[in-house]
Amino acid sequence: MTKRRVAILISGRGSNMAALIQAANAPDFPAEIVLVMSNIAGAGGLESARAAGIETATIESKPFGRDREAFERAMQDELLKHKIDLVCLAGFLRLLTPWFVQQWDGRMINIHPALLPSYRGLHTHERALADGVKIHGATVHFVIPDVDAGPIIVQGAVTVHDNDTAETLGARVLQVEHRIYPQALRMVASGQASIHGGVCKSTTATASEKTLISPSF
Ligand code: GRF
Repeated sequence: MTKRRVAILISGRGSNMAALIQAANAPDFPAEIVLVMSNIAGAGGLESARAAGIETATIESKPFGRDREAFERAMQDELLKHKIDLVCLAGFLRLLTPWFVQQWDGRMINIHPALLPSYRGLHTHERALADGVKIHGATVHFVIPDVDAGPIIVQGAVTVHDNDTAETLGARVLQVEHRIYPQALRMVASGQASIHGGVCKSTTATASEKTLISPSF
């Protein structure tokens, strides 16, 4: 099996990155993490990536100011240098231009802390609580030029408790993120997930019949 070469792009603590690195340690995992790249110098995740023996790169976005494409061209050079096949965004806090997204069309995935298409954008847990939804979760999706949109690969749901705060709810969702991101990468890297008519279908996964009802008595 030739493993797909993966770069993870981060801006912060990198807990999803760590989950991907750990999953990719399994011999049968169809992808290897060869590069972790950050747009923020000193992002916490860089340290843990290095501790895991993964090569890191920092390309600060700030000096590029509004010239997003120049920043992305610098990232692109680094990605090409490492012969990257797939890009995983994991808490990467930069909007991407259509140019960059096009370079990685069908080969770049992102994790978002909400059940898309609900709660695109920021502060997803606060907004879910304000709406009083009873089920919330996380989504891994292919990246398209629109932010927090694109064919959905995997979703994971959690119940919302009456006494939840954004922190407690966010922590519950994060646990799910750490499960679904490795699963989604496995599906994409092995070719089990593919896009048909703008929608992602899985060739092998069998849908579970489990139902989540919230609240339940
Ligand atoms: C996660 O909640 C992810 O869904 C969002 O940014 C956060 C990153 O957290 N895109 P971490 O750096 O992976 O811990």
